[in-house]
Amino acid sequence: SSLPPARSSIPCLPQLPILGSLPWLGGGLPPHLLFTKLAHRYGSLFGLFLGPHYTVVVNSHQHAKEVLLQRGRDFAGRPSMVTTELLTRGGKDIAFSDYSPLWKLHRRLVHNSFTLFGEGTSRLQDVVFSAVDSLCSELMSNGSRGFDPSAAVTRAVTNVVCTLVFSSTYRHGDAELQEVISYNNGIVETIARGGLVDIYPWMKVFPNSSLRKLKECIAVRDRLLTRKLEEHKASLAEGDPSDLLDALLKGKKGGPKSHGLEGEGITDDHVLMTAAEAFGAGVETTSTTLLWILAYLLHHPEVQQRVQKELDENVGADRAANLSDRGHLPYLDCVINEGMRIRPVSPVLIPHTAMTDSSIGGHAVRRGTRVLVNMWSIHHDPQNWDKPDLFQPERFLDDQGNRATPSCFMPFGAGPRVCVGESLARMELFLFLSSLLQRMSFRLPEGAPPPNLQGRLGVVLQPMPYEVVVIPRPGWEGGAR
Ligand code: HEM
Repeated sequence: SSLPPARSSIPCLPQLPILGSLPWLGGGLPPHLLFTKLAHRYGSLFGLFLGPHYTVVVNSHQHAKEVLLQRGRDFAGRPSMVTTELLTRGGKDIAFSDYSPLWKLHRRLVHNSFTLFGEGTSRLQDVVFSAVDSLCSELMSNGSRGFDPSAAVTRAVTNVVCTLVFSSTYRHGDAELQEVISYNNGIVETIARGGLVDIYPWMKVFPNSSLRKLKECIAVRDRLLTRKLEEHKASLAEGDPSDLLDALLKGKKGGPKSHGLEGEGITDDHVLMTAAEAFGAGVETTSTTLLWILAYLLHHPEVQQRVQKELDENVGADRAANLSDRGHLPYLDCVINEGMRIRPVSPVLIPHTAMTDSSIGGHAVRRGTRVLVNMWSIHHDPQNWDKPDLFQPERFLDDQGNRATPSCFMPFGAGPRVCVGESLARMELFLFLSSLLQRMSFRLPEGAPPPNLQGRLGVVLQPMPYEVVVIPRPGWEGGAR
């Protein structure tokens, strides 16, 4: 309705039948880097064909704001993909379900449930603290030996999500925790490799070992979560919900009619898929962000020291840092932000689709068009950032030393599809990093090269494996207090 009158078309890559633009996407670069390179040639807004699917790629802050915020509703759809249909029982989750009144209700319910465990309650903090304590003693158990921290970090974050979703807390080596970690890894790996199936849905008919493995992992996941769901149904009591499953079961009782919706409303399948998604969307992202920040701290010992100085001056060594200290630890926040700016774990967000005819930058965009927002190029655009390739946490401070977050910083996306786990993730990142850096210092093993910062793209953008040595700080030799 408010489309500008004169419109030129969006520059588009060449294409062939069936293959689309794929022959022009060679070179093996991961999408965020490839798109950044193509933007130099075609301009920051360009189109291409991923197989048969016309896709517009947005590389500038201004256009991203249009897509996510100003016309966020227009672009709040999600394309249907083979792997994600399998993963979510045909879109009964939040992340991959197309925009609809039921989706909105579901998203609101999930959001409210997260808030229950979040700010204003000490519950999340307690949950993270117990995971941090075991993480710290696990890390310190390596003595002066170099080791890869990723398994321990993933285990700690998985444990947090297990507690939030179904109130289980596991000790190190627990078989059920191991099962959760291994099916989650299996899903993450196969989804990352299953890319082609999503471009050519007809490949579904071919035997495909990745797809088979994915189905197996999903079956294990669903067996475990169904058992948890049944247990929760049996023990559901009046009063405050004790975890996400409880909150969803209570919330869904309202029923669709009370919200003026037709049809079934929020079903057991929705509850199950939401629980599954807390793992799918909440573990790999958070643990990988932590691993990126540790990698950068190994490159910048002076940054690590400055965070520790801030902790020493504002928290001390007599107690663990907690959420109420956050206001006094601006530099730590900057380090977290700078980590997410320079290495966004979800560099092209999740694909969006246009739900109606709309426009970007004054160019018409037809309903059904897929839209990829290249947050990587926005986070590395020299027009937005001074020396974007350097790790400089101070860039998130203003002249007075106060926090300043530029609007072109969007590691969680923005608008109707913004990450629902954002505040949860931020609390986790803060609590994990403040506790870790209060209790120990991270160093490179003797003679080891600093971590490779290039990154490799699985489901998320991850650092190459690296090793650390941890040195307990005075007063924390035992790991916990
Ligand atoms: C969506 C980032 C942690 C749940 C997203 C999106 C991004 C993102 C970029 C896509 C936005 C878009 O498509 O425009 C991150 C980062 C995290 C993190 C960087 C950690 C550092 C979490 C956690 C949870 C979570 C802890 C839940 C437990 C979700 C869900 C969506 C989502 C459900 C889909 C939202 C929708 O489609 O409406 N996240 N996320 N995320 N995230 Fe996160």
